[in-house]
Formats: sequence, C-alpha cells, structure tokens
Amino acid sequence: MYPENALTDLSGKVVTITGGSRGIGKEIALAFSRCGANVVIASRKKENCTALAEHITETIGTEALPVACHVGQWDQCDELFSTVYDHFGKCDVLINNAGMSPLYKSLTDVSQDLFDKVINVNLRGPFRLSALFGQQMFNDGNGSIINVSSIAAAQPSPHEVPYGAAKAGLHSLTKSFSRAYAPYVRVNCIMPGPFLTDISDAWSDATHESLKHLPLGRGGHPDEVVGAALYFASEASSFTTGAVLKIDGGSIASTS
Ligand SMILES: NC(=O)c1ccc[n+]([C@@H]2O[C@H](COP(=O)([O-])OP(=O)(O)OC[C@H]3O[C@@H](n4cnc5c(N)ncnc54)[C@H](O)[C@@H]3O)[C@@H](O)[C@H]2O)c1
Repeated sequence: MYPENALTDLSGKVVTITGGSRGIGKEIALAFSRCGANVVIASRKKENCTALAEHITETIGTEALPVACHVGQWDQCDELFSTVYDHFGKCDVLINNAGMSPLYKSLTDVSQDLFDKVINVNLRGPFRLSALFGQQMFNDGNGSIINVSSIAAAQPSPHEVPYGAAKAGLHSLTKSFSRAYAPYVRVNCIMPGPFLTDISDAWSDATHESLKHLPLGRGGHPDEVVGAALYFASEASSFTTGAVLKIDGGSIASTS
C-alpha cells in the first residue's frame, strides 16, 4: 500500500547535499528540512554553509550540519563521509548537486587545469562520494543517491564541451551505481535545463532572450527542482532506480 505522506514526510532522515549552500542545492536543503529531514550542507565555503544551517535551525527547527568540502578532492570527500557518519551515524540520501561550468573563449583555450577541474567537480567527486556513501548505505540496507546532471549531457554544445562530457559521465555513473548497490540503494539523476541561479548571471543577453522561446517560455526557478528531488529521495519512488529525469521547461524537445 502507498505510504501516507510518502513524498513529504522525511522525518528522521539524514540528507547530505553537496553544493547545498546556494542555488538548486539550497532550495533542496530548505524544502527537505521543512519535510522533517536533518540535512548536511556541504560546499567549498564553510561560512556560506554555516549561514544556511543557522537559518534552517532557527526558522525550521531541524538539525543542519555545515561541512566545508571541495568535492573535486577525494581526501575532502572522504572527510565529508566520516563527518556525516560520526555525527549522525547514518545517511539516508546523498545528493551529488555540486557542479560548475567555467566559460572559455575557444576550445584551444581550454587548459588542462580547466578540463581537470570540470571533470573533478562534476564527475570524479560524485564517483567517490557514491562509492563511500553507497557502500555504507548498502551495508545498512537502505539508501537513495540523487545525481544532478544537465541537459548539456544530452544536448552537447560547443560552449560546454568538458562540462557536457562530465555530466554525460554522471548519467553513466547513475546507471552503474544503481546496479552496484542494488537492491538496497536506489540511484537516480535529475537533468536540469536552464535554471535562474548564480550560474545564469554569466549567460549572454541572447541566451536569456532565448528562454522566451522554450515551450514554458522562461527559465526555471531553483525551487522547481524540489518535487523531483523529493520523489527520488522518498518511498514514492521505491521502484525507480537508474532513471534520469529531465526538468528543462521543454528545452530539449524544442530544439531537437
Ligand atoms: N542553473 C542551471 O541552469 C543548471 C543547468 C543544468 C545543470 N545545473 C546543475 O545543477 C547543479 C546546481 O547548480 P546551481 O545552478 O544551483 O549552481 P550554483 O552555482 O548556484 O551553486 C553551485 C553550488 O555548488 C557549490 N560548488 C561548486 N564547486 C564546488 C566544489 N568543488 N565543491 C563543493 N561545492 C561546490 C557552490 O559553492 C554552490 O553551493 C550543478 O551541478 C549544475 O551543474 C544547473
């Protein structure tokens, strides 16, 4: 029988969100806290994580643990894992949300450093965190991992070549990890289209203008990812694993 309030009752759950201090990750942290979860807000700058954690504790009343973590560095991924399990003794949901897509002038201007940085943050870090958290969740007999990719994975552009490749790799990780830790750990992926976060500040006027031509006529607001994250995190998706869900206002459909 479908559990009552499956989508919105996360009481007692521990949810670790990388890149949780702003943008899409912040909206997920706030919404999951309102649903009763205790959240771990992991991002590069501790002060930003702490500010959001204090806000959550004061206004919502659930526990929020701020942790500084550069997900591109494996030693820091290992540290995040230990901190979460030392503090809470478990993790029910890992959300690999941290990501970045630096601009470059031309493909020949893409340096080895830039390429490595993009792969490290968007792919290498999620691999390490999925291995650590996924294995422990498997041992504990329950867990959900949610990756956040991009439509750049499915609709590669010359302006985001390393990023699109890294996010396509994240789709592959979603499927391989969904098999590695089955049947106890479900692994799914949210594939966002254009969202109006800090990332969109760097977009050209032409890009902003083009959003009007999407089927839904605008870019997404970061809280419009929350429903999908709740679905994958909760028992509502108990028979869903290895799935990629596109949330893009119809943008892929409109250009392909
Ligand atoms: N905004 C969009 O249009 C869009 C589109 C497609 C995919 N995405 C993806 O959605 C996710 C969230 O994006 P957003 O728009 O909220 O971005 P954002 O820039 O607003 O937030 C990104 C978060 O990730 C953190 N972060 C960046 N590098 C990190 C690192 N090395 N270690 C730990 N944390 C790090 C930042 O501190 C920040 O908290 C990313 O994976 C991004 O690639 C966003």
